[in-house]
Amino acid sequence: MKAISLFSCGGIGDLGLHHAGFDVLVANELLEERAEVFKFNYPNTQMIAGDIWQKQQNILTQTKQALNGKPLDLVFATPPCQGMSKNGRGKLLNAIRQGLKPEIDERNLLIMPTLAIFLASGAHTLVLENVPEMENTYIPNPSQDGEMIGIIDFIKQSLGSEFSNSIRVVEFADYGVPQCRQRLISIFTKHEKLKRYLQQTGSLFPDNTHSKNGKQLLPWKTVRNAIAHLPALDASKTETAKHKFIPYHSVPLLDEEKYFWVSNTPKEKGAFDNQCINPLCYFDKNPTHGSSVDEKGVNRYNTETPLFCAKCGDLLPRPWVKENGQYRLMKGYTSAYKRMSWDSPASTLTRNLSYACSDNKVHPEQNRVLSLYEAMILHTITDYEFYWQRADGKRVSDKLIRELIGESIPPAGLEKIFCHLAQILQDIDLPVKPRLGQQELDFA
Ligand SMILES: C[S@@+](CC[C@H](N)C(=O)[O-])C[C@H]1O[C@@H](n2cnc3c(N)ncnc32)[C@H](O)[C@@H]1O
Repeated sequence: MKAISLFSCGGIGDLGLHHAGFDVLVANELLEERAEVFKFNYPNTQMIAGDIWQKQQNILTQTKQALNGKPLDLVFATPPCQGMSKNGRGKLLNAIRQGLKPEIDERNLLIMPTLAIFLASGAHTLVLENVPEMENTYIPNPSQDGEMIGIIDFIKQSLGSEFSNSIRVVEFADYGVPQCRQRLISIFTKHEKLKRYLQQTGSLFPDNTHSKNGKQLLPWKTVRNAIAHLPALDASKTETAKHKFIPYHSVPLLDEEKYFWVSNTPKEKGAFDNQCINPLCYFDKNPTHGSSVDEKGVNRYNTETPLFCAKCGDLLPRPWVKENGQYRLMKGYTSAYKRMSWDSPASTLTRNLSYACSDNKVHPEQNRVLSLYEAMILHTITDYEFYWQRADGKRVSDKLIRELIGESIPPAGLEKIFCHLAQILQDIDLPVKPRLGQQELDFA
């Protein structure tokens, strides 16, 4: 089966497509450094680096050449999500009704060249991946004088009635990924077999394999399943912050203050809730931190949380800021400087995964954040043969690795979705290709 990939980044999501048996002929990515990582990993794919608006014709010409008369099956497109609206559909529609024009983020218009390429390519199936907020995102409809239209409705309208669709917010932990990550996956198809299957079953998605409570299905894979076997690290000094032999199993040093807060944070807790460490006091009933929803529906962190022990008056090891010799509690939510739980999947990995102040990113019991190697495992990249190298020979920086992980989809989850489509299309039980270093984590 033949496919092309748009907004391919470094190709992490493409691992799932590739391993489900799709031959990716052409890919497109805006940023050179990301495209270079892609090129190294997929030497047989024609990577066209640059802006999709300008590269549309080039993408189509190269695809046609590579197809050499054969038909294209699938277009996989993962446009950037940063512009997708967090506002509720109702709120947005209200604004539109009142004649207020919501601000348009240019990135949300990238669906237009995507659809133009898809329709011109003749592929029968389009798979789009984005954040769940895509459902609430509106764009101006060029065929109706710029009138605002929901992006999904725009896609349906542009593709016409020949296409059926199966759209779902997928929780990747439900497909056995040791990380909670929700994505909106939209499948549009005009292939008769897929349409028939959709009519019969109501969905083009494979059944979940895992669930939170583990009843009937396997339980969610946890942080413990995924990374507990790794050697310990400690972020207080260089010698202990890096493993000698395991590549990328290293963490940034925490400065003295951060290390102090983190090292006094018990399992399952966050540093904002730390209690008194004065050995003559050890009072553990100081009010903890939290947040509440205000009258406008906005979630705000508490501002009254104490920084000094109610019993002995000592400074608590909670995140603080020192101003003019005075201490005050740092502004922030409870999830900052918070330990991950051993017994749940990791929270969504973002490009900030190496910062202790990012959501739930402190190791479950060691005094440090996640190592890049642990992030690669939690993102299922280590299940595959993937190289952190660039085709131009330049070094892949840690920052770039964090960005590629933060912006991508865990490939093992995506592979299940693509395998399912491939199985329906080919009427066979596709054997899953063996993956490098595949770990059986469920029964640890
Ligand atoms: C959400 S990421 C895709 C992640 C990718 N599918 C993966 O799994 O690694 C979106 C990508 O679109 C790229 N992009 C943004 N604007 C673009 C444009 N105008 N043309 C082509 N690519 C673009 C970004 O640089 C980014 O790498």
